[in-house]
Amino acid sequence: MMRMYHKPVLLDACLEGLALKESGTYIDVTFGGGGHTKAILDAIGSGGKVIAFDQDEDAAENSLDDDRLIFVHQNFSFLQRFLRFHKIDKVDGILADLGVSSHQIDTPERGFSTRFDGPLDMRMNSSEGVSARDVVNTYTKEQLSEIFYQYGELTNARKIALRIVEQRSHKPIETTLELTETLSPLVPVKIKHKMMAQIFQALRIEVNQELEALKSLLEQSGEVIKSNGRLCVISYHSLEDRLVKRFIQHGCFDSEPVKDEFGHSHKPFKKVGQLALPSETEIKKNKRARSAKLRIAEKI
Ligand SMILES: C[S@@+](CC[C@H](N)C(=O)[O-])C[C@H]1O[C@@H](n2cnc3c(N)ncnc32)[C@H](O)[C@@H]1O
Repeated sequence: MMRMYHKPVLLDACLEGLALKESGTYIDVTFGGGGHTKAILDAIGSGGKVIAFDQDEDAAENSLDDDRLIFVHQNFSFLQRFLRFHKIDKVDGILADLGVSSHQIDTPERGFSTRFDGPLDMRMNSSEGVSARDVVNTYTKEQLSEIFYQYGELTNARKIALRIVEQRSHKPIETTLELTETLSPLVPVKIKHKMMAQIFQALRIEVNQELEALKSLLEQSGEVIKSNGRLCVISYHSLEDRLVKRFIQHGCFDSEPVKDEFGHSHKPFKKVGQLALPSETEIKKNKRARSAKLRIAEKI
């Protein structure tokens, strides 16, 4: 049997959150296996449209045969540029289902998973940018320490960085297994899985510049979504969720709103409903849904 590319998470809540209109134009910035896009296309009418982004060439192969769909094989940080290219001005809603797909995690050659041995790659777009191998073997001890501390929220970030730098002075660290073996003396057996996942998460965020791309997407969403249109973002870890939450609350990424000389703050969105989480039933059917958090906002 063919392995499933990706099971869409919080599907009904996303469709509801987007408040779909029969002839609306929607953007799915994280197409993946196309599960959310397909459900949007099924729900809108013949006059509706979906523009889907994904920077992974494997996702491009899932593109659907539907005249109402435009697939853009690009990073969503180029959102406005490609909307202009396709002569689309404003849209009724944007959906972002952040992070990596099950397909990416379960493909050993992509190097995303601690469970398989594979090349230390971790690029979502395999044709450009630096790989995890480049990061691990060329960044300074200080840069590595900062990444593990900021993006992995690891308290022993300095020790991890030092160990990598010592190891690579003998031989470059090329594979996921070499990295986990290098670091295993620093990782208590009881929390091995969790800590390795944090280390891999930190490298993945750096390799794909994930937080920068998310900030850029959120800022552009404020420009691109029509008044009363919707923004739905599913995040999978606290670093992403904090940015989404602050942007919806304050219109910026700081913990307080930024005010102009007249004391006004610019806030493009208002929050809709409460944070949506997957049900026990969804988590049972799809373990990867367990850390998902969906925030919904409406353009003011
Ligand atoms: C969690 S999966 C999305 C799954 C999708 N919602 C589905 O139902 O199959 C995330 C996808 O977004 C893509 N992605 C993540 N960050 C991206 C970015 N900055 N630009 C474009 N695509 C991105 C990944 O390549 C991956 O395929």
